[in-house]
Formats: sequence, C-alpha cells, structure tokens
Amino acid sequence: MSHSPILEVQHICKTYPSGTRSLTVLNDISFSVFPGETCAIVGPSGSGKSTLLGLCAGLDRPTSGTIRINDTDISPLDEDERAQLRNQYIGFVFQTFQLLPTLTAMENVMVPLELRKERNIAGRAEELLDQVGLRDRLDHYPTQLSGGEQQRVAIARAFINRPRLLFADEPTGNLDSETSSTIIDLLFDLNRYHETTLVLVTHDMSLASRTGRILKLSGGVLERDLQNEPQNL
Ligand SMILES: Nc1ncnc2c1ncn2[C@@H]1O[C@H](COP(=O)(O)OP(=O)(O)OP(=O)(O)O)[C@@H](O)[C@H]1O
Ligand SMILES: [Mg+2]
Repeated sequence: MSHSPILEVQHICKTYPSGTRSLTVLNDISFSVFPGETCAIVGPSGSGKSTLLGLCAGLDRPTSGTIRINDTDISPLDEDERAQLRNQYIGFVFQTFQLLPTLTAMENVMVPLELRKERNIAGRAEELLDQVGLRDRLDHYPTQLSGGEQQRVAIARAFINRPRLLFADEPTGNLDSETSSTIIDLLFDLNRYHETTLVLVTHDMSLASRTGRILKLSGGVLERDLQNEPQNL
C-alpha cells in the first residue's frame, strides 16, 4: 500500500442555509484513504453520508476544510478542472442513478469515455452491461428499465473509465440479494485487479463488513473509524 493517500479529507464542514438559520450537515470531518483500500461509510439517514461522498468526489464544495485527490487540492479548481479530474480518476454511482433519460443503456455507459474522446468504446460498454446482467437491455431507455436495472447501468457507467477511485452511494440499495451479490463481487474484483480504491455508502452491514474499514457518521460527525478484520473475501 502506498504511503500517499489517494483521498485526503481535512477538517471539512458543510453548512446549508435553512430559513434565517444555517444547518451544519458535516462538522469537522477528517480522514485519509490509501490506494487500494476499501472503505464503507455508514450511519443513520440524514447523517451526511451522501453529502460527504459528493464533496469527496468534487461534485460540490465544502464550506470549509480541504480535500485532496491524488495530492491535488480540489478547492481552488474551477468547475471544468474538477470535471476533468473526475473524468481522469473517479467513478461515481449515485443513490438516484442519474442516468440521462434521452440515452439508451449503452449510450449512458459510454458517456464518460466519449467525454475523453476515446474510440472503440462500444465493445467495452457491452461487456460491462453483460457483466451486470443487462445483455438484453442495451437499447432500452432508462424509463424502460426497472429501478435495479437502472442502478446496474449506473454501476457499469461508473466502471467504464477504469477509475482509480470509485464512490458508490448505496450501490445495492435497490437490488435483490442475488444481483446484489453479483454487484458486490464486481466491485471487489475491480478493487483487487485494478487496485481501484472503493468508498461505499451502505446500510447493508454484510457489505460493510467486507470492506477493510468502516467510517461511522452520526449527526454530521465522524463518530468512529474502524479497521475491519482482515478482509473476508
Ligand atoms: N442541498 C441541500 N440543502 C439543504 N439541506 C441539505 C441539502 N442536501 C442535503 N441536506 C441535508 O443534509 C442532511 C444530510 O443529507 P445526506 O443526503 O447527506 O444524508 P444521508 O446520510 O445520505 O441520508 P440517507 O441515508 O437518507 O441517504 C439532511 O438532513 C438533508 O436534509
Ligand atoms: Mg444518502
């Protein structure tokens, strides 16, 4: 394991305006994640898990504090520079999938590589959709897919640029147990073969127990940072 973290979060706070007051959603969170680590963020609904994941991936800015991805402080970067950094290093599976409604499953999966102007990407998109069990749904639009199927498209899309850092918000939240275990295996395979660092938000303790480390959020505070027993893969 390298000595330099791929993700370094230092003293971040996130505050939202709420009427005339302000609401502190994350309060002084610090942790580092090293290349190849697997890490679960757990905690009750509303504890700030999705907010934290979005900040770590550079999708939003903290109110204060620093986030470094691969030694780059992302706060001074403008929108385009952050998008470029995400495209280069990061895959993200959103809790609400965020598929583009006017594109088919195949087209949605190809978007990150098209942004990188890569060619011959259809084969890889097809292979990934096959791996998540959607070989027969390549030309379906999101409205023609079930919730679990949309989630699998979102997962295939997150994998396609072979990210060094994969963030997944409830990646198995809408899946039956069989598909869920296929997806989990896929996530951990990716972690092992490509040394992709995984940071997952989950309510599923059986998934959390497979990661190397569990961060527990409670009311916007990092309550615990536990190293799991050697990975039970
Ligand atoms: N854009 C926003 N404006 C104002 N408040 C927000 C915004 N986004 C999130 N919040 C608040 O921040 C808190 C944390 O939200 P977040 O989505 O991070 O929770 P979570 O831990 O992911 O919950 P869940 O398990 O239900 O997904 C919530 O109380 C929510 O109301
Ligand atoms: Mg959430």
